[in-house]
Amino acid sequence: MHEIIGRNSELKILQKALEEMENGRGNTIVIEGEHGVGKTYLCEVFEEYCTSKGVPFFSANAKNCEMERPYSTFSQILDSIRSAHNQMVPLGLTPFFNHREVVEIPDLRVAQSFLYEKVYNFIKSINEGQGIVLFFDSVEWIDASSNGLLHYLAMKARQTSILILCTFTPEDILVNRNERVKDTLFALANEKLCTRVRISNLTREDTIELVKLYLKNSTKQTGEKIYEITRGNPQLIKNVCELIERNPKINLYELTPDMLKISYDTKFSGLGGRAEEIARIASVIGNAFDMQTMSRLTQKNEEELLEYFEELIAYEVIEETDEGYMFKTPLVRAYFYSKIPDNQRTELHRTVAEYIARSIPRKEEEVNKKIYQLAYHYYHGKQYELALRYLLRSAELAYEQYGFEQSLEFLKMADMCADNIGNMFVKLEIKTKIGDIQYGLGNFEEATKIYSSMLNEQIAMSDGKVYSELNRKMGMLANLRTEYWEALKYYEKALEVAKNSKHIYEIAMAHRGAGYIYLRLGNWRKALDEYMQAMGMADKVKDPLLTGIIFLEMGNIYNMRGNLEDAIMHYTMAIKNLTNAKNYLDIARAFCNMGDVYVQKEDYSTANEKFALAIDYANKTGNESFLQWVEVNRGFALIKMGYIDDARKKCYAFIETCRANKNRFGTARAFRVLGWAEREDKHYMEALEFFNLALEILESLAVPYEIGRELYDIGLTYEKMDEMEKARSHYARALEILSSIGAGYYTKKLKIKLGRE
Ligand SMILES: Nc1ncnc2c1ncn2[C@@H]1O[C@H](COP(=O)(O)OP(=O)(O)O)[C@@H](O)[C@H]1O
Ligand SMILES: [Mg+2]
Repeated sequence: MHEIIGRNSELKILQKALEEMENGRGNTIVIEGEHGVGKTYLCEVFEEYCTSKGVPFFSANAKNCEMERPYSTFSQILDSIRSAHNQMVPLGLTPFFNHREVVEIPDLRVAQSFLYEKVYNFIKSINEGQGIVLFFDSVEWIDASSNGLLHYLAMKARQTSILILCTFTPEDILVNRNERVKDTLFALANEKLCTRVRISNLTREDTIELVKLYLKNSTKQTGEKIYEITRGNPQLIKNVCELIERNPKINLYELTPDMLKISYDTKFSGLGGRAEEIARIASVIGNAFDMQTMSRLTQKNEEELLEYFEELIAYEVIEETDEGYMFKTPLVRAYFYSKIPDNQRTELHRTVAEYIARSIPRKEEEVNKKIYQLAYHYYHGKQYELALRYLLRSAELAYEQYGFEQSLEFLKMADMCADNIGNMFVKLEIKTKIGDIQYGLGNFEEATKIYSSMLNEQIAMSDGKVYSELNRKMGMLANLRTEYWEALKYYEKALEVAKNSKHIYEIAMAHRGAGYIYLRLGNWRKALDEYMQAMGMADKVKDPLLTGIIFLEMGNIYNMRGNLEDAIMHYTMAIKNLTNAKNYLDIARAFCNMGDVYVQKEDYSTANEKFALAIDYANKTGNESFLQWVEVNRGFALIKMGYIDDARKKCYAFIETCRANKNRFGTARAFRVLGWAEREDKHYMEALEFFNLALEILESLAVPYEIGRELYDIGLTYEKMDEMEKARSHYARALEILSSIGAGYYTKKLKIKLGRE
């Protein structure tokens, strides 16, 4: 049992949060304060409380994690859940889709949220939704991927029985510059998704009481004096009391606060020279180290080392763990590391790297286990050739484990190695990968910067495939910025380069890109023309995925234009090709869009059939949020067939997912379906509310076709309410937008409604 002094109000906040959590409303609580103020201790006391109430409590200490290893902090939590519940843990076990199987740069945010969802569902399932507490101690040391996952869970916590506790020491951010976690905490606070609890030093009275706890026969006077020295910091109080216990004759009046807040220089000044050197060498290895490696690095036998380790333990430099030893805190490690002369540091890293490399069996999986360490040590050992090799593999591995942030870090280090070696070909490859990951993560500005820096490089220009691809990616980015003419220029350049180097696949892709831009510009004849040319080239390379995608996008054009029969034909062809390519996601997409065509034709039972097929395929992708998207769209058919509540349920579930994934377009679609549901039930005011919510989102996304369709639905609702004036004004706005982009089917419908035909 922990005995705790003070902290009543803080404990109340935690207990109340637990109560709310048990009622289905979780939270994230961030406990902030300086070192030694009692953050961890408070959580340990709370853990006892939770355990006594039968609520499972799992902890991870981010200080013990390897910041290079993706999800290493979360693994601690998941591992302890696994051992407590004997359950399989999804993290890292989900194979990432092979990125060569997709035409586009994959949306890594979607991939990542897919993993996040799995972990979320897993955690939720523990204790059958009755509630669970996750405790992240010293969250300022969390690794970059765990940070993303933590952010996601924190956003979900409010709707589930998950209570997240974090302790945070702001001053440590100055040391490790972990900006990501700072951003996360800031964002959560901004969105009111967390409760911040600042804990400060104990009061005078509480200090006196704590001193009594440590020193049985202490006088009030001693307590008062200790309060003056320590200002009520419990760790310092503990230190002074220990000092007094060891040395009862100590003159407290000679101790000053400055002396207690001692720097590491003073604190460790008593260490013997050899022990200090041992600590420095250990600091090269990492936060954690073992006897064997140390023995190898120092050329000393175990017995001798044990003696030094004992000294280091006594001075609170290191502590023993199950696997070996560990620095007391990462800050202590950083202190000893900084004391190593530069040249010696390089030498030591090199030795560690070589030792690790020699001590692991030459099997891929064994190497993979140590890959991050090898990369790190070769890099700091300035062995750039080897470092490059392991950094690239680390980047690949981190990517496969959805640790995209870390993957980027490794690639940036690899880039520096390539600079040092002067290998321009590898550099080109690295920059392409960095650009693609930034693009995939939605950091479009970063991606643009990298790609455009490559555009003027001779080495990029000399390779037709690379250079064409580069221009095409610049085109895609310009399209995202809605700079269509700029985009077109890039696609034209991509086409020219691809034609010169006779790269058929790239010719097809350049035409396809241009086609998409012409569609955006409202020139659908030219768009179709480009797509036809793309199709011609795709036929030559016989890549069913490429052919399938082109059919799918042509289908979308016909769909938008209102040539519904042509759309169906193209979707059918798309499905045929995509089936050959085994690309379930796009097959599902094609069936879903076909469903939409039948909704427009008001043939709801056929629409329902197509949506059901889309759901089958979406299920095969295992992508939960995509599946929900398809289910929401099926709602249009279900509502008309009388299953209104089923449709509603899917919408609400999807809206929750969209909120966590920041998918605004998805939210808008769910609102439209909800609008349909209300309108079918003749709840017209509610229907209008949903349509207007959708409209607001669509307008901010500037998607004219969707805006037009929303306005049409609003008009239709007013018409059912017999408010013809309002109906007509919405129809007129819809007509203006939809006719300007040549959406024939709706233009015709609207003209009839407005009596202009
Ligand atoms: N409220 C308290 N009552 C009694 N002892 C405390 C209290 N808060 C902290 N301590 C003592 O101080 C030490 C340091 O606290 P800790 O929780 O490790 O600080 P932090 O996590 O903020 O750095 C603990 O080991 C504990 O013994
Ligand atoms: Mg702590």
